[in-house]
Amino acid sequence: MVDHYFSKKPTSALRIKPIELNLLDMDFTFDTASGVFAVGKLDRGTELLIKSIDSKGGKLLDLGCGYGAVGVTLSVFFDEVYMVDVNERAVAVSKRNKKRNKCKNCIVLQSDGFSAVEGKKFDVIATNPPTHAGKKLIFSWIEQIKSYLAPKGAFYLVCKTKLGAKSYEAKIQEEFGNCETIKKGSGYRVFRAINL
Ligand SMILES: C[S@@+](CC[C@H](N)C(=O)[O-])C[C@H]1O[C@@H](n2cnc3c(N)ncnc32)[C@H](O)[C@@H]1O
Repeated sequence: MVDHYFSKKPTSALRIKPIELNLLDMDFTFDTASGVFAVGKLDRGTELLIKSIDSKGGKLLDLGCGYGAVGVTLSVFFDEVYMVDVNERAVAVSKRNKKRNKCKNCIVLQSDGFSAVEGKKFDVIATNPPTHAGKKLIFSWIEQIKSYLAPKGAFYLVCKTKLGAKSYEAKIQEEFGNCETIKKGSGYRVFRAINL
């Protein structure tokens, strides 16, 4: 079976590669792992996403959390953070990273899309989506996002400009009636939509 970073059960040998990061003027240590997105590094898109989120307080959902960079880093600014991923290795590594960075308000769950957070409402949903898993999956996430957002809640999505950004922007606009490009850089764009 081919192993992708979005496999539910990675079969590759587990290799842990710790990294140290200074983000938003804070120091973090993360374990990254083979079979989990962005081994040994912080993805540029992820960094741009973290730096774009200007909403604070309430409940954050880190959708497709990988090793947990988004949820762990932003947990300082939110009351409660849910970090979810379909990949069981990503979930295990995120749990370690939550502990090692002393994030008491983070809840890490294995989840296919929204399955583990059914019925919950979030003030912010942030995602660096698995573009290699296909547009169909990401479009279906965009179609569901509004029903998981509180009124006035914000949805942030980062993607590579050359990997379908225009189509994601159009889809977000169609679902929300608004979509703003709030940051650009290193070949990525961050879109923000508000649940009006
Ligand atoms: C591009 S990676 C981003 C990871 C992390 N947020 C980061 O920025 O480093 C996308 C993540 O979505 C996860 N994913 C893929 N399909 C999923 C699904 N159906 N439900 C939940 N997560 C999924 C992948 O396992 C992967 O960790």
